[in-house]
Amino acid sequence: AEIAIVPDAVAGGAVAARDIAAIVTRNPEAVLGLATGSTPLTTWDALAAMREEGLDLSRTTGFALDEYVGIAPGHPESYRCVIDREVVDRLGMDRARVHVPLEAGQDPTTAGAAYERAILAAGGVDVQVLGIGRNGHVGFNEPGSSLASLTRIKTLHPHTREDNARFFGGSIDDVPVHCVTQGLGTILRARRLVLLAWGEAKAEALAGAVEGPVSAVLPGSIIQLHPSVLVVADEAAASRLT
Ligand code: F6R
Repeated sequence: AEIAIVPDAVAGGAVAARDIAAIVTRNPEAVLGLATGSTPLTTWDALAAMREEGLDLSRTTGFALDEYVGIAPGHPESYRCVIDREVVDRLGMDRARVHVPLEAGQDPTTAGAAYERAILAAGGVDVQVLGIGRNGHVGFNEPGSSLASLTRIKTLHPHTREDNARFFGGSIDDVPVHCVTQGLGTILRARRLVLLAWGEAKAEALAGAVEGPVSAVLPGSIIQLHPSVLVVADEAAASRLT
């Protein structure tokens, strides 16, 4: 992987945004793989600033990594709403072309296969943005997920629910238990991966992903199987890299 070590998340967001913008400039109909959580926010900020300078994302397509199961439609922390608010509106994407793996009213047991078909029909993902969990998860592929997995229902690890309780008023009981997530095999099909990590809490997971054994024990290690990866980390997240 190509590794950019930056002073902070703002600088890192600018590096990631430049990478994505170059792809969109070459192909205005590029297919973008979108992550949620806090990590990509500075990337969206930087892309929003580039939009003001003329970057046109209106013809791109988007596929989110994951969505909670059983969250009320329109809940502000559903990834549908998060993606609409943080990405579609701010970057001027076309909402009809931005997808999450489980839409309101869809059956979660068949949504995964439908999502895979939709990604293929769109021509595949050109660039997939990824955060990483403290336990090394990417998407919601928790440790133990098959390296070949495709989009499907998964159970969130209690640690992940704890980490995400901050988005649900601090209460772990309000965090959904299940999700539909792109699989590790789905993520590997993207033509480029941009993995972002900020802060000391991610240092161990990032070192394992970049330098450790490729293993389902640390799902982020799949980046080592991919020929085109950009890792952007701040100094704290990069502190365990050797
Ligand atoms: C989000 C996702 C997760 C997050 C990861 C890190 O769509 O799939 O893998 O990227 O949990 O979360 P943050 O960025 O909130 O630290």
